Amino acid sequence: MIIAIDGPAASGKGTLAQRIAGHFGYVWLDTGLLYRAVARDVFAAGADLEDAEAAARAAAALDATSLGDAALRSTAVGEAASVVAKHPAVRAALLDFQRNFARTPPGAVLDGRDIGTVICPHADVKIFVTADVEVRARRRFEEYVRRGENVTYEEVVEVIRQRDARDASRAAAPLLQAPDAVLLDTTEMDIEAAFEAALAIISHVTSGRSAPC
Ligand code: DC
Repeated sequence: MIIAIDGPAASGKGTLAQRIAGHFGYVWLDTGLLYRAVARDVFAAGADLEDAEAAARAAAALDATSLGDAALRSTAVGEAASVVAKHPAVRAALLDFQRNFARTPPGAVLDGRDIGTVICPHADVKIFVTADVEVRARRRFEEYVRRGENVTYEEVVEVIRQRDARDASRAAAPLLQAPDAVLLDTTEMDIEAAFEAALAIISHVTSGRSAPC
């Protein structure tokens, strides 16, 4: 069973994917961490994020055991990840790892930008999670406040708008809803409601086939 969850920055797809994986006893991969780790390693090598060859080298040498690094969660690394993610060679270098992960029995949930379109086009269930940009920014801002980060709501909206634009406009695997993905707009939902809605989608899509649990 493969469940693909795609969506823009701060849409809540990671939280949702983690909850879904826990519910069914599946493994979960936040694929944004791969691009974040590549950006971190490009920095560490003293290279430029725009240097596609340096970024591809970092992607090829990526140590998946380093994905738990708390530093990967910062805004700056998220921004940098969005830059290295536009290099086709970086995406190609990370492809096999994601596809192998997706084949983990009895099932896997992967969240990202191109899971339903490129990484797992044959996923059993595809959900495209989104919410209005102001709502996404508000959620992210509150998260930063809880962590004690010194940032304004206006700055967060601006960063998310820029990231949306970069992720959606790049030539390689842009952020895109797969034609067979179900749209889940969480603008008016809290995480519990979004989780229930996602379970209903999974149940609907898999009914008639082998159930996910
Ligand atoms: O989901 P996130 O914010 O952790 O992702 C960071 C960046 O990584 C995002 O702006 C674009 C890139 N990314 C991607 O291109 N493809 C994915 N499957 C996941 C993330």
